[in-house]
Amino acid sequence: MKYQIKDYLRHHGFVDQTLTVQGWVRTKRESKNVNFIALNDGSTINNLQVVAEAGVIPEDILKLVTTGAAIAATGILVDSQGAGQTVELKVTSIEVYGTADPDAYPLQPKRHSLEFLREIAHLRPRTNTFSAVFRVRHALAFAVHKFFSDNGFFYWNSPIITGSDAEGAGEMFRVSTLDPKNPPLNEDGSINYKEDFFGKETNLTVSGQLEGELAALALGKIYTFGPTFRAENSNTTRHLAEFWMIEPEMAFFDLYDNMDLAEDFVQYVIKYALDNCVEDLAFLEKRLLEEEKNKPQNERSPMPLLEKLQFVIDNDFERLTYTQAIEILLQSKPHKEKKFQYPVEWGIDLQSEHERYLVEKHFKKPVILTHYPRAIKAFYMKQEVDRPEDKGPTVRAMDVLFPGIGEMIGGSQREDNLEKLVARMKEVGIEPESMDWFLDTRRFGSAPHSGFGLGFERLIQFVTGMGNIRDVIPFPRYPKSAEF
Ligand code: 4AD
Ligand code: MG
Repeated sequence: MKYQIKDYLRHHGFVDQTLTVQGWVRTKRESKNVNFIALNDGSTINNLQVVAEAGVIPEDILKLVTTGAAIAATGILVDSQGAGQTVELKVTSIEVYGTADPDAYPLQPKRHSLEFLREIAHLRPRTNTFSAVFRVRHALAFAVHKFFSDNGFFYWNSPIITGSDAEGAGEMFRVSTLDPKNPPLNEDGSINYKEDFFGKETNLTVSGQLEGELAALALGKIYTFGPTFRAENSNTTRHLAEFWMIEPEMAFFDLYDNMDLAEDFVQYVIKYALDNCVEDLAFLEKRLLEEEKNKPQNERSPMPLLEKLQFVIDNDFERLTYTQAIEILLQSKPHKEKKFQYPVEWGIDLQSEHERYLVEKHFKKPVILTHYPRAIKAFYMKQEVDRPEDKGPTVRAMDVLFPGIGEMIGGSQREDNLEKLVARMKEVGIEPESMDWFLDTRRFGSAPHSGFGLGFERLIQFVTGMGNIRDVIPFPRYPKSAEF
């Protein structure tokens, strides 16, 4: 395998060798007739310093070595005199592959705002910040597969195009080959989807869970890891129209096994990033500290990034029921002073202001809330027999809430009783016949089982400290965003 800049910087064995190093120019600066070129090839946050002494590289070539240009630099790797780097390349020749006209190239050798870089999302992986974020994204994806594979889970692929609405929330992107201007109609005037490509109405999946349940009741423990789509208002810093979800599903797991797994899993992948992305995370931490200098004290993170990640690994998540959480919120200062935008009462869907109060102000750590009211959760969740005093029915749901993020994970034990599941589907307006394939899992060899979904981008936000979800996915999809 060809070596990269990360290898040259890490292994002292390359010193005194003649090397050709390829990469993109980050900066060039001239000092006392010596040109210093910071070269980066994407393999690491660190640049290799290329030193061109006066007269070695012809002027007409040196002129083309500007920020963004792709070059190959050949020379001897030597121990560096300068502070901040261990080695540098004393160059003897430079080949320019592709220039980047400084007057036209949008990335200047200075700090650009994240908003500006979002406008040129196709070029932003070339910046320090985004290359660091995307290397961390890779490491986390690898850690996800490693965790599950090491623990006996099988990687399962649920379909992207599906005929069902797993969450029953109606937030789907339609997939259709019918001419929208002239669709075939039934006698009653409704669109005849029998003539559509798949012979029925289909959409992009909102979750791979239901097909994951089929697999769990066959292979025992599975996980999906793929793109999911929601046609919901995604104009927030926590929502995307296209995001990646990790959904483990396990036969013979109850809600408590499910919570244990969620906690172990999240702590494992965060530890993996801490162990394997030290330099990128240290860079991102520094970036965050600089960004926060301009913020009022109460908006700054209570801990530096690396310390925050270590804290999550070292401390158990807080576990309590929805009913207990409502009690805490009712006793809270913002409730008593009417500072919450949405008033608190048993039965409400917790808003992010409530979730943030619980994790950031009250517990100051990740929290797992369980036993939500049945009325605000999806049809497939297992109905709890015991009810909290004076309150409505609950389900064996669990949401994992994180400081600065809100909901990172949503999951539940699943309703494994056929009659109860069918009755609930009818109550919420789902025709049981339309999901006959799903009900077969409860007809034949039904078993207790559980699972959850983790929003991959929200995890990356937490680990990198990036404030906006649009900055942790290469091509963010949100309303009016599909340029490429
Ligand atoms: O809570 P949700 O909707 O749960 C499900 O889809 C279940 N079927 C999961 C399961 O039990 N297998 O979504 C799960 C997670 C959320 O906790 C959140 O982290 C993330 O997916 N998520 C989003 N992330 C980015 N943009 C959006 N629009 C998201 N909607 C949900
Ligand atoms: Mg949810």
